[in-house]
Amino acid sequence: MEATAKAHTNIALIKYWGKRNDALILPTNNSLSVTLDGLHTTTKVTFDTELKKDQFQLNGEFIKGTAYDRVVKFLDLIRNQGNRPNLFAHIQSENAVPTAAGFASSASGFAALAGAATKALEMDIDLPALSRITRQGSGSACRSIYGGFVEWQKGEREDGTDSYAVPIAPQNHWDLRIAAVVLTAKEKDVSSRVGMKRTVDTSVFYDGWLQSIPKDLRDIKKAITEKDFEKLGEISEANCLKMHATTLGAVPPFTYWQDDTMTVMETVQYLRKKGIPAYFTIDAGPNVKVLYTPEHEEKVLEALKSVNAVEKVIVSKVGSGIDCQ
Ligand code: PMV
Repeated sequence: MEATAKAHTNIALIKYWGKRNDALILPTNNSLSVTLDGLHTTTKVTFDTELKKDQFQLNGEFIKGTAYDRVVKFLDLIRNQGNRPNLFAHIQSENAVPTAAGFASSASGFAALAGAATKALEMDIDLPALSRITRQGSGSACRSIYGGFVEWQKGEREDGTDSYAVPIAPQNHWDLRIAAVVLTAKEKDVSSRVGMKRTVDTSVFYDGWLQSIPKDLRDIKKAITEKDFEKLGEISEANCLKMHATTLGAVPPFTYWQDDTMTVMETVQYLRKKGIPAYFTIDAGPNVKVLYTPEHEEKVLEALKSVNAVEKVIVSKVGSGIDCQ
């Protein structure tokens, strides 16, 4: 009744931004991500008949409050599916990801928890089923089940049974680099959950965003197949800008960007002017991720580290899928 799983975060190149069902976490659009080898969570789950409630430790500290409640709610789902509704667990997570600042800590966190808990209960599930369960912890986490390039199919069914991630290209398909540029470890003002809901409900730009997705997906899949880096970067950067534009049309309007976010964006555009192909993407926080190819690493890192507000830069290669032991 004990298992450990390691999962990596993923960065969406075509963003998931909006739910059609809040309770089941069903998205309004397909999204596509790349899994990152440098940012990961390792979680050990031990079910114990002596326990009266779950215990959750993150990086050695016992966690209470909303984060604990979210973990318990997610474990309830797994316990029910595994026919052990009254069996509680010790959960020990080691997170090598800055939390709640747009670094998708929840993605690797929920994927690792799902992998370890289902394995500890000896549930007989395949990867699509694991992705489907993980989705209900945090949407973007369902893509962290696989390595390489991954698409989350939104599905059509009301019950969500056809909403899960599928692999598009494996880890070794393309040797890319993704630099996670850490500007601040401050908590977000508007969580992705709250931000996407407000955008879906009120943004005058939301329809335009949705209409643009099918073409972005078609084009980026072609770029991945053909390993066309400029195309991949252009589509990713434009898709990110469109997602963030929807937040400015929401009521009340909001943005995840800080002035330092824009300084890094300008630095990336400056690199391109100098002939170095580098592209940015940004999730629901101020930090920026930069895509580039290995031969340009030195120049890209030099430029990023020259920005005053940059606290650290975490470089990733394309990462692998979940590993459950
Ligand atoms: O899964 P959540 O609730 O952390 O939402 C993730 C939303 C974005 O990071 C902005 C986009 C994405 O597809 O990961």
